[in-house]
Amino acid sequence: MAPPLLRMHGIHHAFGANQVLTGVDFELRAGEVHALLGLNGAGKSTLMKILAGALRPDRGTIQIDGQDTPLRSPREAQAAGITMIHQELRLAMDLSVAANVVLGAEPRRRGIFLDRPAARLAAADALERLGVHLDADRPAETLRVGEQQAVEIARALHRSSRILVMDEPTSALSDREVSGLFELMRKLKREGVGVIFISHRLAEVFAVADRVTVLRAGQVALTVEAARTSPEAVVQAMVGKELVSASHGSTPRKRSGVPRLEVQNLFLAAPVTGGRDRLTDISLALFPGEVLGLAGLMGAGRTELVECLAGQHGKRMQGFVRIDGRPIRLDSIRGAQRMGIALVTEDRARLGVIPDQTVRENLFLSRPRAIRGWLRQSEERRAYETRREELGIVAAHPELSIGSLSGGNQQKVLLARALESQPRVLLLDEPTRGIDPKAKEDIYTLIRTLADAGTSIILATSELSELFRVADRLLPLRQGRALPTIEAASLSERELLAMLAA
Ligand SMILES: Nc1ncnc2c1ncn2[C@@H]1O[C@H](COP(=O)(O)OP(=O)(O)OP(=O)(O)O)[C@@H](O)[C@H]1O
Ligand SMILES: [Mg+2]
Repeated sequence: MAPPLLRMHGIHHAFGANQVLTGVDFELRAGEVHALLGLNGAGKSTLMKILAGALRPDRGTIQIDGQDTPLRSPREAQAAGITMIHQELRLAMDLSVAANVVLGAEPRRRGIFLDRPAARLAAADALERLGVHLDADRPAETLRVGEQQAVEIARALHRSSRILVMDEPTSALSDREVSGLFELMRKLKREGVGVIFISHRLAEVFAVADRVTVLRAGQVALTVEAARTSPEAVVQAMVGKELVSASHGSTPRKRSGVPRLEVQNLFLAAPVTGGRDRLTDISLALFPGEVLGLAGLMGAGRTELVECLAGQHGKRMQGFVRIDGRPIRLDSIRGAQRMGIALVTEDRARLGVIPDQTVRENLFLSRPRAIRGWLRQSEERRAYETRREELGIVAAHPELSIGSLSGGNQQKVLLARALESQPRVLLLDEPTRGIDPKAKEDIYTLIRTLADAGTSIILATSELSELFRVADRLLPLRQGRALPTIEAASLSERELLAMLAA
């Protein structure tokens, strides 16, 4: 029998005293999609960084086509045909879409001069194969998360990799883009490429993966053909025990009196003149203790709406906003914060975490400086401890750099930061992006608990099931316009989807 495309054997890795991988065996066949699963912090990204040559294992071997292949640097990994799409996006923000797609493998004239027309064509071709409609000349900094990811995936295509690692590639994509990506993964399979797919969304895993490997506590807990297992069995392997799902004790909420937040005729102009207005004539009322879900396909304006309410669009936004009946202006981020509005952003790499600060510093970032005297360290550590337990943050120490936390745990720190300000209105944009199923349950419970305590919450998410789990009412958005709000209990996921896509 031919050797597998990739074999990682007995891989060990520790960060200081933290033993993250202890003897992991992982195998990838040519032409398969192999899902790599595990709770936040299980070591998935670490194993993949070893494969990408970004980290050296303490012990263990890597074979490609049966040949020992030490991957001593990212360059060596790339030469061995391995491309990694990172969990945190890494585009060159000052370059165009096309330049980003061909980055590191630019077509050149006479081997020296960048061949711009050829680069544009190659980039357009890769994007086309992905089914992504993006202007090749657009600056990367104007792209939303989903678009940035598409560019990264296109870059991997352009490099004709044999092993493609996708670390949570779908978490910011719309349903349609996800099926486009899966279609592409199937094409890659037919060409003999092996795809390693990391995702916390089990429905996707079972839709696309041929095999599944689960990491738990630094070891492989399960490797199995996807057709021979079930989501329940996989979650059990991840957790190591039965997972009890807390159900949404949906007591119908009384909505009376003055709304906590009231928005009338909100408009957000296009970022460039001539473009389509991003939001048109949005009105809504949010009551104390209520969770309003923003539903919408990619580009419908969910993120823009929460950004407006967080004061991020300044004077580009127009409309009337009241908090507890009092008219307010939302033309600055500080102003919104003063009114008790907090936002947890979807784009944690760009707008959320401060990478070279510690977990503690990131958590207490929004505290006024005056309060941060000599008392702060010990007091903040105590407060950190409370949040850590509440959200199940896995971090060895609050004084570590936030970059050393797994992706899902960074997300939890951002959520904790928003809670620190004890907001009256909490805006959550994709709050469970990159969060494992166990922690997701914790976050759903937390959202309901906050609401029961009187916080008003707006939840923007691309996961419809999430809306139905936690929202009282839904505000469907279509191309920047709002449809009438609906009671979440009054319709099905399928009906909602039909409404959004119409
Ligand atoms: N650069 C680093 N320095 C120190 N510790 C690290 C570093 N990178 C990761 N770790 C630790 O290694 C462990 C595994 O992290 P890893 O990022 O591999 O998890 P993951 O399975 O990808 O999780 P997630 O689902 O949240 O992305 C975590 O405990 C994390 O804190
Ligand atoms: Mg990870």
